[in-house]
Amino acid sequence: MDYVRLGTSGLNVSRLSLGTMTYGDPAWRDWVLPEEPSRPFLARALEAGITFFDTADVYSIGRSEEIVGRALKDMTRRDQVVIATKVHGKMGDGPNDKGLSRAHIMSAVQASLKRLDTDYIDLYQIHRFDPHTPILETMTALHDLVRQGMVRYIGASSMAAYQFAKMQHAADLHGLTRFVSMQNHYNLVYREEEREMIPLCTEDGVGVIPWSPLARGFLAGNRPRGEAQTTRARSDAFGEAMYRTEGDYAVQERVAEVAARLDVSPAQVATAWILAKPGVTAPIIGASKMPHLEDALAALDLKLSAEDMAYLEEPYQPHPVLGF
Ligand SMILES: NC(=O)c1ccc[n+]([C@@H]2O[C@H](COP(=O)([O-])OP(=O)(O)OC[C@H]3O[C@@H](n4cnc5c(N)ncnc54)[C@H](OP(=O)(O)O)[C@@H]3O)[C@@H](O)[C@H]2O)c1
Repeated sequence: MDYVRLGTSGLNVSRLSLGTMTYGDPAWRDWVLPEEPSRPFLARALEAGITFFDTADVYSIGRSEEIVGRALKDMTRRDQVVIATKVHGKMGDGPNDKGLSRAHIMSAVQASLKRLDTDYIDLYQIHRFDPHTPILETMTALHDLVRQGMVRYIGASSMAAYQFAKMQHAADLHGLTRFVSMQNHYNLVYREEEREMIPLCTEDGVGVIPWSPLARGFLAGNRPRGEAQTTRARSDAFGEAMYRTEGDYAVQERVAEVAARLDVSPAQVATAWILAKPGVTAPIIGASKMPHLEDALAALDLKLSAEDMAYLEEPYQPHPVLGF
């Protein structure tokens, strides 16, 4: 496993991050695995050298954090892993149970620490932009968490590049902690981030850690031409709404074609593509079956030629903003 710095921060992370949205409570989403069948994925990831784990308070409404916290505590030493979680989503019915106000951030971090059963969060990410809270209020609250030792680094997730730039600017102006990472929606069928966000991050020394590098399984072939082949493909309304244009299917078919020629799986090709894209620190992969994780690991050794990279990208058609 290779380890790389998260942007220009001093924090080293594995070249792959294991996303843990898939592990939690099947009552939350049909395709989510409960605790016992989830643990082997965390064990195999650790064995393979993955040290970077991504969760969020909203995944299975806290259950994902509990499972991740318990497994990592049982399987490794706390200082050997980087635990990333998120705040912003709705965690209750009260008026302050969501968003990026100081009120919610301070309560949410305590709840995440408790569920993860840890004294600190390595990377605390804002899950989305909050247009209803002053940026300075959010940045000051996040800075206070770092000062108090509850959080070591802060990151952000999907938002407009101008919003991210404004938040970083507020941190600079007021001597507050800057975000070290951007967790954005980026894969072979959603490349709008190449316009603004990725160049901004690259120039600014911010690590890019894309979510859904396989377009929620679309690029691995779990829904060819709308024919849902897995539980997730059948029940993942979010994915179904995002990936289904002719351009998307054309890219999906090229991924399958290149994979057949190289005698590897489509998932390996799509993962190797994102690993090779400039600015990408570590894609956050999802695995609901063990071969998914093995394919992601194998992709680390798959080097695509410049011709294959261009061939995969050629049919792409621009999309409206998706996934904010
Ligand atoms: N910040 C955000 O807003 C945000 C949003 C989404 C996700 N995330 C993070 O990103 C992580 C990954 O997201 P994701 O699960 O959507 O990632 P993904 O890698 O795009 O999709 C994972 C899905 O692809 C399929 N798959 C993976 N490898 C495969 C293989 N080798 N062969 C066939 N199918 C394969 C599986 O689908 P089946 O289960 O159908 O077999 C699996 O559930 C999440 O766990 C979460 O941590 C963050």
